[in-house]
Amino acid sequence: MGLPFPILHFPFPDPLIPQSFIQDLLNRVDIVGVVERYVPLKRAGANYVACCPFHGEKTPSFTVSPTKQFYHCFGCGAHGTAIGFMIEYAGVGFIDAVKDLAQSVGMQVPEVKSERPRGKTEEGDDLYAVLLKAAQYYRQQLKNASRAIEYLKKRGLSGDIAKQFGIGYALDGWQNLQAVFPDYNAKALVAAGLVIQGDEGKRYDRFRDRIMFPIVDQRGHIIGFGGRVLDQGEPKYLNSPETALFEKGRELYGLYQGRRAIRDAGRVIVVEGYMDVVALAQSGIGYAVATLGTATTPTHVQKLLHQAEEIVFCFDGDNAGRRAAWRALENSLEQLVDGKQLSFLFLPQGEDPDTYVRKLGKDEFEKLLGGAKPLSQFLLDELKSRVDLDTHEGRARLLQEARPFVVQIRAKFLGKMIRQNLAQIAGISTQDLDREYGVQKSKPANSAPPRLASAAVRTPARKVIELLMLRPNLCSLVDRKDLVAARGAPKIKQEEIALLDALLEVFNESATTKIGEYFRGGNLENLVREIEATLLGRPEASFQDDEIKEQFLHEWDNLIVAINEGPRELRRKILQEKQNLSPEEQSEYRALLQPQRTGIAK
Ligand code: UTP
Ligand code: MN
Repeated sequence: MGLPFPILHFPFPDPLIPQSFIQDLLNRVDIVGVVERYVPLKRAGANYVACCPFHGEKTPSFTVSPTKQFYHCFGCGAHGTAIGFMIEYAGVGFIDAVKDLAQSVGMQVPEVKSERPRGKTEEGDDLYAVLLKAAQYYRQQLKNASRAIEYLKKRGLSGDIAKQFGIGYALDGWQNLQAVFPDYNAKALVAAGLVIQGDEGKRYDRFRDRIMFPIVDQRGHIIGFGGRVLDQGEPKYLNSPETALFEKGRELYGLYQGRRAIRDAGRVIVVEGYMDVVALAQSGIGYAVATLGTATTPTHVQKLLHQAEEIVFCFDGDNAGRRAAWRALENSLEQLVDGKQLSFLFLPQGEDPDTYVRKLGKDEFEKLLGGAKPLSQFLLDELKSRVDLDTHEGRARLLQEARPFVVQIRAKFLGKMIRQNLAQIAGISTQDLDREYGVQKSKPANSAPPRLASAAVRTPARKVIELLMLRPNLCSLVDRKDLVAARGAPKIKQEEIALLDALLEVFNESATTKIGEYFRGGNLENLVREIEATLLGRPEASFQDDEIKEQFLHEWDNLIVAINEGPRELRRKILQEKQNLSPEEQSEYRALLQPQRTGIAK
């Protein structure tokens, strides 16, 4: 078998013009004037409108907002800043658009520096090359490490599989990497996550006496490592920190190695561990991937749905596994598409995919996969288990609990069927349920994009974000630290928290930052665009400052309450699953079923 990782180089130019210049430019340029150079605009209240230059239409749905300095078309979704307009309409490149606009307001574009490809440090070291070199070194070391080889053999891995996954070994010792990186002080070693800079400037290897699993991105570059202790020891797995190249919420272990098998099978299994992926491959099931010690994110799901018709989440049968499955479900709802299938396979207590596939073998294991519980059924079963279906109260509660999940589903048919099912259980009509859930009747094609319609139900985080976008100065009233607990909290949309956190940071720096440009090309771009677009129609835009402030603080409190629901939810589940509750526990459980009251503010 050949070298498993064809390492290619794709230079990604960083933005060459400093973000601060872009922001200054957008503060000086008036988008109304820019658009008017090409498209005649008519005033309509606070905004300007025209027939959209990006798609054919007879009534104007193209809107330009002088206060927010962006354009948006309610018909086709075209959206952007003055720079975006120049790129999209005038068809010029980013740099030319900036130069043109700068000239129109008499600004000088800073000297464009030479291209710095993604993954290059300031000193010019290439992080991909550094990681590759380290991986080769670890692989080399494994050849002579009999203890490590014994360990892998004991776990049933063949040499071929070890090679296919590029498995290696980091020797015990503090500065072994010096052997391959003579300049052990190079910034790149720390930037790549291989070396830790301790207090007092002492440096040492992050991975010592560990089996090394290279983490590879979809192009075949090594972007990080997971390292397992050989026997006992804490932590069992040590992972690379997030670096310029490695973002845990985007990457999946084994996706690169499994891409062929995934395509051939039309299916991908999501498991929790490195060893699960490797063991499944060893058993002939090459289409498994693992998250990297994090929950399954919407990005993960989206990535996988691009490659396979079917995703099977395969988790341990214990409580932790059930929780992981529920998180995966929550983060999948928005990504569901009619025609694709997501399902959940729970293994018996004490088994993980690694141990179980060894027991059953390929064929039996694949049979189990075929019988995995469809997402819709998992959702309904779980929600039903939370209430007493024999009473009106319980069924009403079911509808209430189901709502935040169900409204996220954009897959038309699947969403409809799930709502039908719920309505039937509750004994009401689907029309009534749809109306209560604010689910729109399907509109004729060519109306607003579906995301806008689904924005009807807004989370507290979303409301805070919107108000903050309307009045960036509000950022000083709240503390970003309060958001820390939201990481991993159930029912909290992590993407929204990420955006809110970023906004607080950005606005604290400068309340005039044009976020549309700031987030361009990043993973929050779509969310920002969507929210900016909905803001155009919000009545709050014209509210007094103190009204907005009031509302903002109120929504912030709601958000903090929602974040802290997490631990309550967990406690409730523990009690729910427990037998023979004591009287204290019974009253605690009842209290947990009530909506939460807080002492926060007002
Ligand atoms: P598990 O603890 O379930 O281990 O962690 P495992 O996959 O069964 O590993 P083996 O079979 O004992 O070797 C599942 C995943 O959680 C992350 C790793 O990604 C691991 O593969 N993890 C676990 C960590 O990041 N750190 C840890 O200390 C433990
Ligand atoms: Mn295991």
